[in-house]
Amino acid sequence: MAALGVFDTANLNSGQKLAMKYFAVALPLFGAQILFGLLAGLQYLIPDFLFQVLDFSVNRTVHLNAMIVWMLYGFIGGVYWMLEDEAQHPVVGLWLGNLIFWILTIAVTIVVLVYLLIQIGPAEMSTIWFIMEGREYIEAPRWADIGIVVSVLVFFFNVAATFSKGRYTGIGGVLVLDLLALFGIYLAGMFYTPNISVDQFWWWWVIHLWVEATWEVLVGCIMAYMLIQTLGVRRKIVETWLYIEVALMFGSGILGLGHHYFWIGTPQYWLTIGGFFSALEPIPLVAMVVHAVFDSGVHKLRNSNHPALAWTIGQAAGNFFGAGVWGFMHTLPQINLYTHGTQWTASHGHLAFFGAYSTAVIAFFYLAAQKSRGNVWMSGNIVGGWKWKWSMAFLWIGMIGMTMALLIAGYEQSQIERAVGGSTWMAYFEAQSHPWFMQAMTWRQISGYIFGLGYILLVWDLLTIGKRETRSVSELHAEQPQPA
Ligand code: HEM
Ligand code: HEM
Ligand SMILES: [Fe+2]
Repeated sequence: MAALGVFDTANLNSGQKLAMKYFAVALPLFGAQILFGLLAGLQYLIPDFLFQVLDFSVNRTVHLNAMIVWMLYGFIGGVYWMLEDEAQHPVVGLWLGNLIFWILTIAVTIVVLVYLLIQIGPAEMSTIWFIMEGREYIEAPRWADIGIVVSVLVFFFNVAATFSKGRYTGIGGVLVLDLLALFGIYLAGMFYTPNISVDQFWWWWVIHLWVEATWEVLVGCIMAYMLIQTLGVRRKIVETWLYIEVALMFGSGILGLGHHYFWIGTPQYWLTIGGFFSALEPIPLVAMVVHAVFDSGVHKLRNSNHPALAWTIGQAAGNFFGAGVWGFMHTLPQINLYTHGTQWTASHGHLAFFGAYSTAVIAFFYLAAQKSRGNVWMSGNIVGGWKWKWSMAFLWIGMIGMTMALLIAGYEQSQIERAVGGSTWMAYFEAQSHPWFMQAMTWRQISGYIFGLGYILLVWDLLTIGKRETRSVSELHAEQPQPA
Protein backbone atom coordinates (compact mmCIF):
# COMPACT_ATOMS: atom_id res chain seq x y z
CA MET A 1 0.00 0.00 0.00
CA ALA A 2 1.50 3.32 -1.07
CA ALA A 3 1.66 6.47 1.01
CA LEU A 4 -1.53 8.39 1.58
CA GLY A 5 -2.33 11.05 -0.99
CA VAL A 6 -0.03 9.60 -3.63
CA PHE A 7 -1.67 8.42 -6.82
CA ASP A 8 -0.68 4.78 -7.20
CA THR A 9 -2.56 2.04 -9.01
CA ALA A 10 -0.79 -0.50 -6.78
CA ASN A 11 -3.58 0.30 -4.31
CA LEU A 12 -6.13 -1.22 -6.65
CA ASN A 13 -7.11 -4.76 -7.49
CA SER A 14 -6.76 -5.80 -11.12
CA GLY A 15 -10.43 -5.16 -12.00
CA GLN A 16 -10.10 -1.68 -10.53
CA LYS A 17 -6.97 -0.97 -12.57
CA LEU A 18 -8.94 -1.77 -15.70
CA ALA A 19 -11.81 0.38 -14.41
CA MET A 20 -9.42 3.34 -14.10
CA LYS A 21 -8.73 3.11 -17.84
CA TYR A 22 -12.43 3.30 -18.61
CA PHE A 23 -12.85 6.23 -16.22
CA ALA A 24 -9.85 7.97 -17.79
CA VAL A 25 -11.61 7.94 -21.18
CA ALA A 26 -15.08 8.70 -19.79
CA LEU A 27 -14.05 11.99 -18.18
CA PRO A 28 -12.65 13.70 -21.32
CA LEU A 29 -15.57 12.37 -23.37
CA PHE A 30 -17.89 14.11 -20.89
CA GLY A 31 -15.91 17.28 -21.70
CA ALA A 32 -16.39 16.63 -25.44
CA GLN A 33 -20.13 16.23 -24.89
CA ILE A 34 -20.26 19.64 -23.21
CA LEU A 35 -18.12 21.32 -25.87
CA PHE A 36 -20.26 20.08 -28.75
CA GLY A 37 -23.45 20.86 -26.79
CA LEU A 38 -22.28 24.44 -26.37
CA LEU A 39 -21.48 24.71 -30.10
CA ALA A 40 -24.93 23.35 -31.03
CA GLY A 41 -26.56 25.69 -28.52
CA LEU A 42 -24.72 28.66 -29.99
CA GLN A 43 -26.03 27.72 -33.43
CA TYR A 44 -29.56 28.22 -32.11
CA LEU A 45 -28.59 31.81 -31.30
CA ILE A 46 -26.31 32.50 -34.28
CA PRO A 47 -27.55 30.25 -37.11
CA ASP A 48 -24.57 31.13 -39.35
CA PHE A 49 -22.03 30.13 -36.75
CA LEU A 50 -19.68 27.49 -38.25
CA PHE A 51 -22.18 26.91 -41.08
CA GLN A 52 -20.72 24.35 -43.51
CA VAL A 53 -17.66 24.05 -41.30
CA LEU A 54 -19.17 22.19 -38.39
CA ASP A 55 -22.89 21.89 -39.02
CA PHE A 56 -25.55 21.70 -36.31
CA SER A 57 -26.40 18.13 -37.29
CA VAL A 58 -22.79 17.05 -36.73
CA ASN A 59 -22.44 18.91 -33.44
CA ARG A 60 -25.65 17.33 -32.24
CA THR A 61 -24.54 13.84 -33.29
CA VAL A 62 -21.18 14.19 -31.54
CA HIS A 63 -22.88 15.73 -28.47
CA LEU A 64 -25.17 12.72 -28.14
CA ASN A 65 -22.73 9.97 -29.08
CA ALA A 66 -20.11 11.33 -26.70
CA MET A 67 -22.80 11.20 -24.02
CA ILE A 68 -23.78 7.59 -24.67
CA VAL A 69 -20.17 6.44 -24.92
CA TRP A 70 -18.90 8.21 -21.80
CA MET A 71 -21.80 6.86 -19.79
CA LEU A 72 -21.25 3.32 -21.08
CA TYR A 73 -17.53 3.65 -20.26
CA GLY A 74 -18.51 4.90 -16.82
CA PHE A 75 -20.83 1.92 -16.29
CA ILE A 76 -18.31 -0.63 -17.55
CA GLY A 77 -15.72 1.01 -15.29
CA GLY A 78 -18.16 0.88 -12.37
CA VAL A 79 -18.81 -2.81 -12.94
CA TYR A 80 -15.09 -3.67 -13.16
CA TRP A 81 -14.52 -1.53 -10.08
CA MET A 82 -16.83 -3.61 -7.93
CA LEU A 83 -16.42 -6.98 -9.63
CA GLU A 84 -13.62 -8.50 -7.52
CA ASP A 85 -15.07 -7.15 -4.29
CA GLU A 86 -18.46 -8.60 -5.05
CA ALA A 87 -17.39 -11.91 -6.55
CA GLN A 88 -14.42 -12.36 -4.16
CA HIS A 89 -12.46 -13.60 -7.13
CA PRO A 90 -9.95 -12.01 -9.55
CA VAL A 91 -11.42 -10.95 -12.90
CA VAL A 92 -11.52 -13.92 -15.26
CA GLY A 93 -10.04 -13.11 -18.69
CA LEU A 94 -8.48 -9.84 -17.61
CA TRP A 95 -6.14 -9.67 -20.61
CA LEU A 96 -9.16 -9.91 -22.91
CA GLY A 97 -10.77 -7.07 -20.99
CA ASN A 98 -7.65 -4.95 -21.52
CA LEU A 99 -7.47 -5.80 -25.20
CA ILE A 100 -11.11 -4.91 -25.73
CA PHE A 101 -10.63 -1.61 -23.94
CA TRP A 102 -8.05 -0.56 -26.53
CA ILE A 103 -10.02 -1.86 -29.51
CA LEU A 104 -13.17 -0.08 -28.36
CA THR A 105 -11.34 3.17 -27.71
CA ILE A 106 -9.65 3.17 -31.12
CA ALA A 107 -13.01 2.40 -32.77
CA VAL A 108 -14.72 5.28 -30.96
CA THR A 109 -11.95 7.65 -32.07
CA ILE A 110 -12.28 6.58 -35.71
CA VAL A 111 -16.07 6.88 -35.65
CA VAL A 112 -15.92 10.43 -34.29
CA LEU A 113 -13.21 11.48 -36.76
CA VAL A 114 -15.37 10.21 -39.63
CA TYR A 115 -18.38 12.18 -38.32
CA LEU A 116 -16.27 15.31 -38.26
CA LEU A 117 -14.44 14.82 -41.57
CA ILE A 118 -17.33 13.57 -43.72
CA GLN A 119 -20.25 15.74 -42.76
CA ILE A 120 -22.33 15.67 -45.93
CA GLY A 121 -22.74 13.09 -48.69
CA PRO A 122 -25.14 10.72 -50.41
CA ALA A 123 -27.04 8.21 -48.29
CA GLU A 124 -26.37 4.72 -49.59
CA MET A 125 -25.84 1.26 -48.16
CA SER A 126 -22.11 2.00 -47.97
CA THR A 127 -22.91 5.07 -45.85
CA ILE A 128 -24.61 2.83 -43.32
CA TRP A 129 -21.62 0.53 -43.24
CA PHE A 130 -18.82 3.07 -43.10
CA ILE A 131 -20.01 6.60 -42.22
CA MET A 132 -23.12 6.57 -40.02
CA GLU A 133 -26.53 4.92 -39.70
CA GLY A 134 -28.48 8.09 -38.95
CA ARG A 135 -30.22 6.56 -35.95
CA GLU A 136 -30.16 9.22 -33.26
CA TYR A 137 -27.95 8.33 -30.24
CA ILE A 138 -26.62 5.18 -31.91
CA GLU A 139 -25.43 6.66 -35.21
CA ALA A 140 -22.24 4.57 -35.29
CA PRO A 141 -21.75 2.81 -38.67
CA ARG A 142 -22.41 -0.89 -39.03
CA TRP A 143 -18.74 -1.96 -38.83
CA ALA A 144 -18.49 -0.29 -35.44
CA ASP A 145 -21.81 -1.84 -34.35
CA ILE A 146 -20.41 -5.29 -34.95
CA GLY A 147 -17.24 -4.35 -33.08
CA ILE A 148 -19.32 -3.03 -30.20
CA VAL A 149 -21.35 -6.24 -29.98
CA VAL A 150 -18.20 -8.37 -29.91
CA SER A 151 -16.56 -6.13 -27.26
CA VAL A 152 -19.62 -6.25 -25.17
CA LEU A 153 -19.88 -10.02 -25.37
CA VAL A 154 -16.33 -10.22 -24.05
CA PHE A 155 -17.27 -7.86 -21.23
CA PHE A 156 -20.32 -9.97 -20.46
CA PHE A 157 -18.19 -13.11 -20.41
CA ASN A 158 -15.68 -11.50 -18.03
CA VAL A 159 -18.40 -10.45 -15.61
CA ALA A 160 -20.45 -13.66 -15.73
CA ALA A 161 -17.39 -15.93 -15.49
CA THR A 162 -15.94 -13.98 -12.56
CA PHE A 163 -19.17 -14.26 -10.59
CA SER A 164 -19.49 -17.94 -11.50
CA LYS A 165 -15.96 -18.76 -10.34
CA GLY A 166 -16.25 -16.64 -7.23
CA ARG A 167 -19.65 -16.15 -5.65
CA TYR A 168 -22.94 -14.80 -6.92
CA THR A 169 -24.29 -12.07 -4.68
CA GLY A 170 -27.80 -10.69 -5.20
CA ILE A 171 -26.27 -7.66 -6.91
CA GLY A 172 -24.16 -9.96 -9.10
CA GLY A 173 -27.13 -12.06 -10.22
CA VAL A 174 -29.26 -9.07 -11.16
CA LEU A 175 -26.31 -7.48 -12.93
CA VAL A 176 -25.52 -10.48 -15.12
CA LEU A 177 -29.13 -10.94 -16.24
CA ASP A 178 -29.45 -7.22 -16.88
CA LEU A 179 -26.28 -7.06 -18.99
CA LEU A 180 -27.60 -9.87 -21.13
CA ALA A 181 -30.82 -7.93 -21.77
CA LEU A 182 -29.00 -4.64 -22.27
CA PHE A 183 -26.75 -5.93 -24.99
CA GLY A 184 -29.32 -8.21 -26.60
CA ILE A 185 -31.52 -5.16 -27.16
CA TYR A 186 -28.71 -3.34 -28.94
CA LEU A 187 -29.15 -5.78 -31.83
CA ALA A 188 -32.65 -4.38 -32.45
CA GLY A 189 -31.13 -1.11 -33.60
CA MET A 190 -28.90 -2.61 -36.24
CA PHE A 191 -31.23 -3.68 -39.00
CA TYR A 192 -31.89 -1.45 -41.95
CA THR A 193 -35.45 -1.17 -43.16
CA PRO A 194 -36.62 1.39 -45.74
CA ASN A 195 -39.92 1.83 -43.83
CA ILE A 196 -39.45 4.66 -41.34
CA SER A 197 -42.25 3.42 -39.02
CA VAL A 198 -40.71 -0.03 -38.78
CA ASP A 199 -37.29 1.48 -38.32
CA GLN A 200 -38.47 3.72 -35.51
CA PHE A 201 -40.36 0.85 -33.90
CA TRP A 202 -37.15 -1.15 -33.40
CA TRP A 203 -34.95 1.85 -32.74
CA TRP A 204 -37.05 2.61 -29.66
CA TRP A 205 -36.35 -0.86 -28.37
CA VAL A 206 -32.75 0.24 -27.97
CA ILE A 207 -33.33 3.77 -26.75
CA HIS A 208 -36.31 3.37 -24.46
CA LEU A 209 -35.53 -0.13 -23.20
CA TRP A 210 -32.03 1.05 -22.43
CA VAL A 211 -32.70 4.20 -20.46
CA GLU A 212 -36.00 3.22 -18.89
CA ALA A 213 -35.30 -0.43 -18.14
CA THR A 214 -31.83 -1.94 -18.47
CA TRP A 215 -29.70 1.15 -17.70
CA GLU A 216 -31.88 1.89 -14.69
CA VAL A 217 -31.31 -1.62 -13.36
CA LEU A 218 -27.59 -1.36 -14.08
CA VAL A 219 -27.25 1.87 -12.09
CA GLY A 220 -29.48 0.26 -9.45
CA CYS A 221 -26.80 -2.46 -9.07
CA ILE A 222 -23.78 -0.20 -9.04
CA MET A 223 -25.43 2.32 -6.72
CA ALA A 224 -26.38 -0.54 -4.37
CA TYR A 225 -22.67 -1.35 -4.15
CA MET A 226 -21.97 2.37 -3.66
CA LEU A 227 -24.32 2.52 -0.64
CA ILE A 228 -22.58 -0.48 0.92
CA GLN A 229 -19.19 1.15 0.31
CA THR A 230 -19.86 4.69 1.44
CA LEU A 231 -22.43 4.24 4.21
CA GLY A 232 -21.81 0.66 5.21
CA VAL A 233 -25.46 -0.30 4.62
CA ARG A 234 -26.13 -3.99 5.20
CA ARG A 235 -26.21 -6.11 2.07
CA LYS A 236 -29.52 -7.71 2.95
CA ILE A 237 -31.27 -4.35 3.06
CA VAL A 238 -29.71 -3.08 -0.17
CA GLU A 239 -30.47 -6.25 -2.07
CA THR A 240 -34.09 -6.45 -0.90
CA TRP A 241 -34.64 -2.91 -2.19
CA LEU A 242 -32.89 -3.81 -5.41
CA TYR A 243 -35.24 -6.73 -6.11
CA ILE A 244 -38.30 -4.59 -5.47
CA GLU A 245 -37.01 -1.81 -7.69
CA VAL A 246 -36.14 -4.18 -10.51
CA ALA A 247 -39.60 -5.75 -10.44
CA LEU A 248 -41.30 -2.34 -10.50
CA MET A 249 -38.92 -1.04 -13.16
CA PHE A 250 -39.45 -3.87 -15.62
CA GLY A 251 -43.14 -4.10 -14.73
CA SER A 252 -43.77 -0.53 -15.84
CA GLY A 253 -40.83 0.25 -18.15
CA ILE A 254 -41.17 -2.55 -20.71
CA LEU A 255 -44.69 -1.72 -21.85
CA GLY A 256 -44.02 1.94 -21.08
CA LEU A 257 -42.23 1.73 -24.43
CA GLY A 258 -45.65 2.48 -25.86
CA HIS A 259 -45.26 6.21 -25.07
CA HIS A 260 -43.02 6.40 -28.15
CA TYR A 261 -45.54 4.59 -30.35
CA PHE A 262 -48.25 7.26 -30.20
CA TRP A 263 -47.53 9.00 -33.50
CA ILE A 264 -45.22 6.84 -35.59
CA GLY A 265 -47.82 4.82 -37.47
CA THR A 266 -48.29 1.94 -34.99
CA PRO A 267 -51.80 0.65 -34.06
CA GLN A 268 -54.00 2.81 -31.87
CA TYR A 269 -53.99 0.48 -28.86
CA TRP A 270 -50.51 1.79 -28.06
CA LEU A 271 -52.12 5.04 -26.90
CA THR A 272 -53.73 3.17 -24.01
CA ILE A 273 -50.90 0.76 -23.27
CA GLY A 274 -48.19 3.41 -23.51
CA GLY A 275 -50.10 5.99 -21.50
CA PHE A 276 -51.01 3.56 -18.74
CA PHE A 277 -47.74 1.73 -18.18
CA SER A 278 -45.44 4.70 -18.63
CA ALA A 279 -47.51 6.63 -16.08
CA LEU A 280 -46.46 3.94 -13.57
CA GLU A 281 -42.76 4.37 -14.35
CA PRO A 282 -42.08 7.00 -11.66
CA ILE A 283 -43.00 4.50 -8.90
CA PRO A 284 -39.65 2.63 -8.75
CA LEU A 285 -37.91 5.99 -8.92
CA VAL A 286 -39.76 7.09 -5.79
CA ALA A 287 -38.65 3.82 -4.16
CA MET A 288 -35.03 4.66 -5.01
CA VAL A 289 -35.26 8.08 -3.36
CA VAL A 290 -36.88 6.63 -0.24
CA HIS A 291 -34.20 3.95 -0.11
CA ALA A 292 -31.22 6.34 -0.46
CA VAL A 293 -32.61 8.90 1.98
CA PHE A 294 -33.65 6.23 4.48
CA ASP A 295 -30.25 4.52 4.44
CA SER A 296 -28.45 7.84 4.80
CA GLY A 297 -30.71 8.77 7.71
CA VAL A 298 -30.23 5.45 9.51
CA HIS A 299 -26.48 5.95 9.29
CA LYS A 300 -26.83 9.60 10.31
CA LEU A 301 -24.97 10.54 7.12
CA ARG A 302 -21.72 9.17 8.57
CA ASN A 303 -19.90 7.92 5.55
CA SER A 304 -16.44 7.31 4.18
CA ASN A 305 -16.68 9.47 1.07
CA HIS A 306 -18.65 12.73 1.19
CA PRO A 307 -18.46 13.63 -2.52
CA ALA A 308 -19.45 10.10 -3.62
CA LEU A 309 -22.39 10.00 -1.21
CA ALA A 310 -23.50 13.51 -2.19
CA TRP A 311 -23.54 12.47 -5.86
CA THR A 312 -25.35 9.24 -4.91
CA ILE A 313 -28.15 11.14 -3.17
CA GLY A 314 -28.12 13.55 -6.14
CA GLN A 315 -28.55 10.52 -8.40
CA ALA A 316 -31.67 9.36 -6.59
CA ALA A 317 -33.15 12.87 -6.66
CA GLY A 318 -32.06 13.62 -10.24
CA ASN A 319 -33.46 10.33 -11.48
CA PHE A 320 -36.76 11.01 -9.74
CA PHE A 321 -37.15 14.56 -11.07
CA GLY A 322 -35.57 14.17 -14.51
CA ALA A 323 -37.05 10.83 -15.47
CA GLY A 324 -40.01 10.51 -13.09
CA VAL A 325 -41.48 14.01 -12.89
CA TRP A 326 -40.26 15.49 -16.19
CA GLY A 327 -41.10 12.22 -17.98
CA PHE A 328 -44.54 11.96 -16.41
CA MET A 329 -45.41 15.52 -17.45
CA HIS A 330 -45.64 14.59 -21.13
CA THR A 331 -46.27 10.86 -21.10
CA LEU A 332 -50.07 10.82 -21.44
CA PRO A 333 -51.12 10.90 -25.10
CA GLN A 334 -53.55 13.76 -24.49
CA ILE A 335 -50.62 15.94 -23.43
CA ASN A 336 -47.98 14.43 -25.68
CA LEU A 337 -50.09 15.43 -28.69
CA TYR A 338 -49.07 19.01 -27.93
CA THR A 339 -45.58 18.56 -26.49
CA HIS A 340 -44.16 15.82 -28.73
CA GLY A 341 -40.78 16.71 -30.15
CA THR A 342 -40.70 20.25 -28.74
CA GLN A 343 -38.01 21.63 -26.45
CA TRP A 344 -40.12 20.12 -23.69
CA THR A 345 -38.68 16.78 -24.76
CA ALA A 346 -35.16 18.22 -24.70
CA SER A 347 -35.79 19.62 -21.21
CA HIS A 348 -36.70 16.14 -19.99
CA GLY A 349 -33.85 14.49 -21.96
CA HIS A 350 -31.21 16.74 -20.35
CA LEU A 351 -32.41 16.45 -16.76
CA ALA A 352 -33.03 12.70 -17.03
CA PHE A 353 -29.67 11.75 -18.55
CA PHE A 354 -27.76 13.99 -16.21
CA GLY A 355 -29.84 13.23 -13.13
CA ALA A 356 -29.96 9.47 -13.53
CA TYR A 357 -26.66 8.62 -15.16
CA SER A 358 -23.98 11.34 -15.12
CA THR A 359 -24.40 11.59 -11.36
CA ALA A 360 -23.87 7.85 -10.88
CA VAL A 361 -20.66 7.85 -12.91
CA ILE A 362 -19.33 10.93 -11.09
CA ALA A 363 -19.95 9.17 -7.76
CA PHE A 364 -17.74 6.34 -9.01
CA PHE A 365 -15.05 8.78 -10.11
CA TYR A 366 -14.82 9.90 -6.48
CA LEU A 367 -14.73 6.36 -5.14
CA ALA A 368 -11.88 5.65 -7.55
CA ALA A 369 -10.01 8.85 -6.64
CA GLN A 370 -10.14 7.87 -2.98
CA LYS A 371 -8.79 4.37 -3.32
CA SER A 372 -6.13 5.21 -5.88
CA ARG A 373 -4.66 7.69 -3.41
CA GLY A 374 -4.24 5.04 -0.76
CA ASN A 375 -7.72 5.16 0.80
CA VAL A 376 -7.42 8.71 2.01
CA TRP A 377 -9.91 10.42 4.27
CA MET A 378 -12.82 11.84 2.27
CA SER A 379 -15.33 12.60 4.98
CA GLY A 380 -15.81 15.97 6.72
CA ASN A 381 -13.22 18.75 6.25
CA ILE A 382 -11.53 17.34 3.17
CA VAL A 383 -8.43 19.38 2.38
CA GLY A 384 -9.49 21.64 -0.54
CA GLY A 385 -13.07 20.44 -0.09
CA TRP A 386 -14.48 23.63 -1.65
CA LYS A 387 -13.70 22.28 -5.10
CA TRP A 388 -16.05 19.30 -5.06
CA LYS A 389 -18.78 21.38 -3.49
CA TRP A 390 -18.53 24.22 -6.00
CA SER A 391 -18.19 21.92 -8.98
CA MET A 392 -21.30 20.08 -7.82
CA ALA A 393 -23.13 23.37 -7.30
CA PHE A 394 -22.18 24.72 -10.75
CA LEU A 395 -23.08 21.47 -12.49
CA TRP A 396 -26.50 21.35 -10.84
CA ILE A 397 -27.24 25.07 -11.22
CA GLY A 398 -26.21 24.87 -14.89
CA MET A 399 -28.32 21.77 -15.48
CA ILE A 400 -31.40 23.13 -13.69
CA GLY A 401 -31.00 26.42 -15.58
CA MET A 402 -30.87 24.60 -18.93
CA THR A 403 -33.82 22.40 -18.00
CA MET A 404 -35.99 25.35 -16.99
CA ALA A 405 -35.06 27.41 -20.05
CA LEU A 406 -35.90 24.49 -22.34
CA LEU A 407 -39.16 23.89 -20.49
CA ILE A 408 -40.23 27.50 -21.07
CA ALA A 409 -39.36 27.16 -24.75
CA GLY A 410 -41.35 23.91 -24.84
CA TYR A 411 -44.40 25.52 -23.28
CA GLU A 412 -44.21 28.33 -25.79
CA GLN A 413 -43.95 25.89 -28.71
CA SER A 414 -46.84 23.76 -27.43
CA GLN A 415 -49.02 26.84 -27.17
CA ILE A 416 -48.12 28.80 -30.26
CA GLU A 417 -47.15 26.08 -32.69
CA ARG A 418 -49.54 23.32 -31.62
CA ALA A 419 -52.55 24.69 -29.70
CA VAL A 420 -52.99 28.05 -31.44
CA GLY A 421 -51.28 27.44 -34.77
CA GLY A 422 -52.63 23.92 -35.31
CA SER A 423 -49.19 22.37 -36.05
CA THR A 424 -48.79 23.94 -39.45
CA TRP A 425 -45.42 24.56 -41.08
CA MET A 426 -45.90 28.32 -40.65
CA ALA A 427 -46.80 27.89 -36.98
CA TYR A 428 -43.60 25.94 -36.45
CA PHE A 429 -41.51 28.89 -37.62
CA GLU A 430 -43.66 31.37 -35.76
CA ALA A 431 -42.97 29.51 -32.51
CA GLN A 432 -39.26 29.11 -33.29
CA SER A 433 -38.76 32.85 -33.81
CA HIS A 434 -40.94 34.05 -30.93
CA PRO A 435 -39.07 36.26 -28.41
CA TRP A 436 -39.90 33.85 -25.56
CA PHE A 437 -38.26 31.06 -27.49
CA MET A 438 -35.18 33.11 -28.31
CA GLN A 439 -34.81 34.35 -24.74
CA ALA A 440 -35.09 30.80 -23.45
CA MET A 441 -32.33 29.74 -25.86
CA THR A 442 -30.11 32.52 -24.52
CA TRP A 443 -30.69 31.36 -20.96
CA ARG A 444 -29.97 27.79 -21.96
CA GLN A 445 -26.63 28.93 -23.34
CA ILE A 446 -25.73 30.94 -20.24
CA SER A 447 -26.64 27.97 -18.05
CA GLY A 448 -24.54 25.78 -20.33
CA TYR A 449 -21.48 27.95 -19.62
CA ILE A 450 -22.11 27.59 -15.87
CA PHE A 451 -22.32 23.84 -16.39
CA GLY A 452 -19.02 23.94 -18.30
CA LEU A 453 -17.39 25.77 -15.40
CA GLY A 454 -18.62 23.04 -13.06
CA TYR A 455 -17.01 20.46 -15.32
CA ILE A 456 -13.64 22.23 -15.29
CA LEU A 457 -13.74 22.34 -11.49
CA LEU A 458 -14.70 18.66 -11.42
CA VAL A 459 -11.68 17.66 -13.48
CA TRP A 460 -9.39 19.82 -11.36
CA ASP A 461 -10.84 18.32 -8.20
CA LEU A 462 -10.56 14.71 -9.37
CA LEU A 463 -6.92 15.27 -10.27
CA THR A 464 -6.06 16.80 -6.91
CA ILE A 465 -8.47 15.55 -4.23
CA GLY A 466 -6.73 13.69 -1.43
CA LYS A 467 -3.27 14.78 -2.57
CA ARG A 468 -2.44 16.74 0.56
CA GLU A 469 -4.45 14.53 2.89
CA THR A 470 -2.66 12.78 5.73
CA ARG A 471 -5.62 11.09 7.40
CA SER A 472 -6.70 7.65 6.33
CA VAL A 473 -10.25 6.43 5.82
CA SER A 474 -9.62 3.87 8.58
CA GLU A 475 -9.75 6.70 11.14
CA LEU A 476 -13.45 6.98 10.39
CA HIS A 477 -13.99 3.26 10.79
CA ALA A 478 -12.06 3.28 14.07
CA GLU A 479 -14.47 5.93 15.39
CA GLN A 480 -17.55 4.26 14.02
CA PRO A 481 -18.00 0.52 14.34
CA GLN A 482 -19.83 -0.96 11.34
CA PRO A 483 -23.53 -1.26 12.16
CA ALA A 484 -24.60 -4.83 12.76
C1 HEM B 1 -33.42 7.93 -16.83
C2 HEM B 1 -34.46 7.69 -17.53
C3 HEM B 1 -34.87 8.46 -18.75
C4 HEM B 1 -34.08 9.06 -19.68
C5 HEM B 1 -32.55 9.14 -19.73
C6 HEM B 1 -34.97 9.64 -20.68
C7 HEM B 1 -34.55 10.34 -21.81
C8 HEM B 1 -35.36 10.71 -22.84
C9 HEM B 1 -34.92 11.33 -24.07
C10 HEM B 1 -33.49 11.68 -24.42
C11 HEM B 1 -36.02 11.51 -24.86
C12 HEM B 1 -36.01 12.11 -26.26
C13 HEM B 1 -35.89 11.05 -27.26
C14 HEM B 1 -35.88 11.57 -28.67
O1 HEM B 1 -34.81 11.93 -29.14
O2 HEM B 1 -36.98 11.64 -29.29
C15 HEM B 1 -37.16 11.02 -24.12
C16 HEM B 1 -38.46 11.03 -24.58
C17 HEM B 1 -39.54 10.75 -23.78
N1 HEM B 1 -39.53 10.35 -22.46
FE1 HEM B 1 -37.92 9.91 -21.37
N2 HEM B 1 -36.25 9.38 -20.32
C18 HEM B 1 -36.25 8.67 -19.14
C19 HEM B 1 -37.35 8.25 -18.43
C20 HEM B 1 -38.65 8.56 -18.73
C21 HEM B 1 -39.81 8.23 -17.91
C22 HEM B 1 -39.74 7.51 -16.57
C23 HEM B 1 -40.90 8.70 -18.58
C24 HEM B 1 -42.36 8.67 -18.19
C25 HEM B 1 -42.82 8.64 -17.02
C26 HEM B 1 -40.44 9.29 -19.82
C27 HEM B 1 -41.25 9.84 -20.80
C28 HEM B 1 -40.83 10.23 -22.05
C29 HEM B 1 -41.72 10.56 -23.15
C30 HEM B 1 -43.23 10.57 -23.12
C31 HEM B 1 -40.91 10.89 -24.24
C32 HEM B 1 -41.36 11.30 -25.64
C33 HEM B 1 -41.31 12.77 -25.79
C34 HEM B 1 -41.85 13.23 -27.12
O3 HEM B 1 -42.97 12.83 -27.46
O4 HEM B 1 -41.19 14.00 -27.82
N3 HEM B 1 -39.07 9.19 -19.87
N4 HEM B 1 -36.74 10.55 -22.88
C1 HEM C 1 -23.21 22.16 -21.37
C2 HEM C 1 -24.17 22.42 -21.88
C3 HEM C 1 -25.06 21.77 -22.89
C4 HEM C 1 -25.60 22.41 -23.95
C5 HEM C 1 -25.41 23.87 -24.34
C6 HEM C 1 -26.41 21.46 -24.66
C7 HEM C 1 -27.09 21.73 -25.83
C8 HEM C 1 -27.82 20.83 -26.56
C9 HEM C 1 -28.42 21.10 -27.85
C10 HEM C 1 -28.35 22.41 -28.60
C11 HEM C 1 -29.06 19.98 -28.24
C12 HEM C 1 -29.83 19.76 -29.54
C13 HEM C 1 -31.28 20.08 -29.33
C14 HEM C 1 -32.09 20.00 -30.60
O1 HEM C 1 -31.94 19.07 -31.39
O2 HEM C 1 -32.88 20.90 -30.81
C15 HEM C 1 -28.91 19.01 -27.19
C16 HEM C 1 -29.48 17.76 -27.19
C17 HEM C 1 -29.37 16.88 -26.14
N1 HEM C 1 -28.52 16.98 -25.04
FE1 HEM C 1 -27.45 18.61 -24.53
N2 HEM C 1 -26.39 20.25 -24.01
C18 HEM C 1 -25.56 20.39 -22.91
C19 HEM C 1 -25.26 19.41 -21.98
C20 HEM C 1 -25.88 18.19 -21.92
C21 HEM C 1 -25.73 17.24 -20.85
C22 HEM C 1 -24.81 17.41 -19.66
C23 HEM C 1 -26.55 16.18 -21.13
C24 HEM C 1 -26.78 14.92 -20.39
C25 HEM C 1 -26.03 14.42 -19.50
C26 HEM C 1 -27.20 16.46 -22.40
C27 HEM C 1 -28.11 15.65 -23.02
C28 HEM C 1 -28.75 15.91 -24.22
C29 HEM C 1 -29.78 15.07 -24.80
C30 HEM C 1 -30.31 13.77 -24.22
C31 HEM C 1 -30.17 15.67 -26.01
C32 HEM C 1 -31.23 15.17 -27.00
C33 HEM C 1 -32.53 15.77 -26.59
C34 HEM C 1 -33.70 15.47 -27.50
O3 HEM C 1 -33.52 14.94 -28.59
O4 HEM C 1 -34.83 15.78 -27.12
N3 HEM C 1 -26.77 17.68 -22.85
N4 HEM C 1 -28.13 19.54 -26.17
FE1 LIG D 1 -39.40 6.16 -23.06
